[in-house]
Amino acid sequence: MQVSIREERIEDWYDTEYVTKKAFWNLHFPGCSEHYLVHKLRQDSAYLPEFTRVAEVDGVIVGAIWYSKAHVHTEKEKIEIVTFGPLCVEPAFQKKGIGGMLLRETMELVKKAGYKAIIIFGEPDYYPRHGFITCDHFGITTKDGKNFDAFMGIELEKGALAHAKGKFTESEVFENLPPEEVDQYDKKFPYMEKLKLPGQWS
Ligand SMILES: CC(C)(COP(=O)(O)OP(=O)(O)OC[C@H]1O[C@@H](n2cnc3c(N)ncnc32)[C@H](O)[C@@H]1OP(=O)(O)O)[C@@H](O)C(=O)NCCC(=O)NCCS
Repeated sequence: MQVSIREERIEDWYDTEYVTKKAFWNLHFPGCSEHYLVHKLRQDSAYLPEFTRVAEVDGVIVGAIWYSKAHVHTEKEKIEIVTFGPLCVEPAFQKKGIGGMLLRETMELVKKAGYKAIIIFGEPDYYPRHGFITCDHFGITTKDGKNFDAFMGIELEKGALAHAKGKFTESEVFENLPPEEVDQYDKKFPYMEKLKLPGQWS
């Protein structure tokens, strides 16, 4: 299987959002909002389109990743870093290394662009294999002062977060996804049934 990673073009938007829908559908709750998040993120001032990459197999998009600016607020300063999300791979193509390829390639781009660290909310069993550790190691909490397994970060330059004790913030777009707007936007894509499944958050 030949996988190529390339920049995203406007004409890819529908396909990348549809892959996002398929990857997240019924994963954390019945349905999903991540495809609408991608749509909203593209219009957000924090969005960093230069780091968006799609994965293609035989000319078909099977995965993608999106980055945006984020911050750590210490007592003394506001440090600009990046976050990513969603990262997704079409279900039929998962566990073939594509997520890892998208991640490695874009982490290198972000590093070359001069960003010193990445902080995310993500799958606690997946990202440690790519070097992420929980943010309590850096003395960084969420904006509400919390730490948990899904809240992880990585220094792109050794020691970059050594003096970054503080609070993490990301674009409000991540939390501002009203269910009725998500449902309306979802009508652009083929119907999928919302199911309550074991292992969902809610
Ligand atoms: C998470 C995701 C992006 C990983 O991409 P991928 O191409 O499937 O992953 P890779 O092939 O690079 O890595 C595969 C390895 O990671 C593991 N893995 C994949 N998804 C995982 C998850 N959610 N939790 C724990 N481990 C996971 C696989 O078991 C596999 O392990 P192995 O190498 O020991 O067999 C993809 O599975 C996906 O889109 N999932 C649904 C959406 C999602 O959860 N996105 C991440 C949100 S933070």
